[in-house]
Amino acid sequence: MMRIEATPHKLHLFFCTNTRENGDKSCGDTPDTALLAEQLKKRFKEAKLPIRISRTACLGPCAQGPNIMCYPQQVWFQDAHVEDLDAIDAQVRKILASGSAG
Ligand code: FES
Repeated sequence: MMRIEATPHKLHLFFCTNTRENGDKSCGDTPDTALLAEQLKKRFKEAKLPIRISRTACLGPCAQGPNIMCYPQQVWFQDAHVEDLDAIDAQVRKILASGSAG
């Protein structure tokens, strides 16, 4: 029988790694979100932060990608690339500490 449980994660990051065969722009056109997910997962695990990292299919705003979505704080990181690793890391820690993007 289905159960409803509270998740243990204070913050969940979804990294779009979607690819398309028809040539339309997609986040998976570059390896950036996959590489960012790998690096941030390692960093947050080492810091023992309650952050979940997931790779996902299309999140919607493909033209603004590569995209990373942050829940439940309702934040997008758009046009995110490997060189943004430290900035995303810092911003996520700030959001986690404050509970919002503000
Ligand atoms: S392909 Fe990433 S948001 Fe659509």
